Amino acid sequence: MKRILMTGAAGGAGAFLRQELHGRYHLCLSDRIEITDCGPGESFVEADLEDPVLIRKSLSGVDGIIHLGGYSVEGDWHSILNANIIGAYNLYEAARLEGVKRIVFASSNHAMGFYDRNETINHTDVPRPDSRYGLSKVFGESLGQLYVDKYGAEVMNIRIGNVAERPIDARRLAIWISPRDLAQLVIMGLELPDLQYEVVYGMSDNKRAWWDNANALRLGYAPQDRSEDYASEILAQEAGNLGDPLADRLQGGVFVSTEFIPNPAKAKLSE
Ligand SMILES: NC(=O)c1ccc[n+]([C@@H]2O[C@H](COP(=O)([O-])OP(=O)(O)OC[C@H]3O[C@@H](n4cnc5c(N)ncnc54)[C@H](O)[C@@H]3O)[C@@H](O)[C@H]2O)c1
Repeated sequence: MKRILMTGAAGGAGAFLRQELHGRYHLCLSDRIEITDCGPGESFVEADLEDPVLIRKSLSGVDGIIHLGGYSVEGDWHSILNANIIGAYNLYEAARLEGVKRIVFASSNHAMGFYDRNETINHTDVPRPDSRYGLSKVFGESLGQLYVDKYGAEVMNIRIGNVAERPIDARRLAIWISPRDLAQLVIMGLELPDLQYEVVYGMSDNKRAWWDNANALRLGYAPQDRSEDYASEILAQEAGNLGDPLADRLQGGVFVSTEFIPNPAKAKLSE
């Protein structure tokens, strides 16, 4: 059985993926928070992504990596820099030194958050990060590209929308991914033969999507779940909500509107 290191395994996505991947791999669960409930086929290794020595040690005997660890929302520069930028670099560099080629990276929709919801974007569109957090995900994706091109790594970046048991609001109707669909993409990232560098969107079969996930489908992704099953209930709950016009217009939602400074010159031009 393959040994797979999962960073950030103490977090929310880690909990879902532990359940979904149970029995398929030996999961080496890594986090800076101790995980005390390891089951059969799991072991815990404490490692802070900011510590290159510990990260390298955690990779000993590992066949592949699911990189979830990091600061998972918008934060101050210091926090994002350390966890997501230095942390991702430490992980990729340790993987190179330990000869671990296969890495699945939990990127985010916030790498693309400044696109309008009226636009359908795909894996080839240029990033438009909506936050320091989104910017760190663009860095993580490009880091993967560098390690593929220069050092022979094999990388899948999954731009996750929102992983949860069910979508919780109108925005999530577009970007939701069920735990089992996310697990399917992760398995593809770990097991597809001849993988070099791929970017896919981490969403289920969502009718209201803003993303053309043709690249994932080309690679064999067959999502099992559909956000539309929850649409009437969610839209009825939200009927009459005033909302935030900027957050509601752009893909990144409140990550876009937080700290946003309107540009009067641009506003004039579009009048
Ligand atoms: N949950 C989602 O819907 C979603 C959407 C888009 C992207 N993502 C990405 O997926 C990954 C997992 O998301 P999540 O929701 O489970 O986040 P989370 O915040 O629940 O978990 C992140 C984990 O990383 C660990 N961590 C943080 N800094 C660390 C460090 N320096 N060293 C070691 N471990 C560290 C934390 O202790 C935590 O357990 C994140 O990278 C996130 O950006 C998640």
